[in-house]
Amino acid sequence: MFLKNLITRLKGFFLIGTIMFCLAICIHNRASAHEWKAPKDAVQKKNPIKSTKTSIDPGKKIYIQFCADCHGKKVDGNGSMAAELKIKPPDLKNRAKYHSDGDLFWKIQNGKGEMPPFREELQEQEIWNVINYIKSLPE
Ligand code: HEC
Repeated sequence: MFLKNLITRLKGFFLIGTIMFCLAICIHNRASAHEWKAPKDAVQKKNPIKSTKTSIDPGKKIYIQFCADCHGKKVDGNGSMAAELKIKPPDLKNRAKYHSDGDLFWKIQNGKGEMPPFREELQEQEIWNVINYIKSLPE
């Protein structure tokens, strides 16, 4: 009898422990949801394409075709699809200055959640062109 009680109690503790553990992980994930970080070596990767008109102009075309629906024609996060997304696309015009080119490159290649990965769709040079375009915009 005593042993049976003990086992039931232990099971209870175990269950509560598991629930607490899952909650902790859940809360942690929520807190860091906006801390989307690229791996260190990706962040340090240098942009091999000079930010000149020959890069920025095609970069703008790619941006309008592939990114503007979500991130907005004005690159302010207010694209026509933005309202349908659970997470509002960031205002890249404002956010870009906080991120290295390598960091942006990695995020565009890999995507996250509702942000699609562009690894297959865009060539590396096209991605650097988009980055040069975004970074060329006045705030
Ligand atoms: C279907 C909508 C959608 C499209 C298309 C899209 N994005 Fe995004 N993007 C998002 C969302 C949503 C996030 C936020 C993701 C998150 O934090 O979970 C995001 C995040 C980003 C970030 C990270 C910004 C930061 O502060 O870390 C970059 C950079 C970015 N997008 C660039 C682009 C570029 C460049 C394109 C086009 C090649 C593009 N996105 C196309 C929805 C989109």
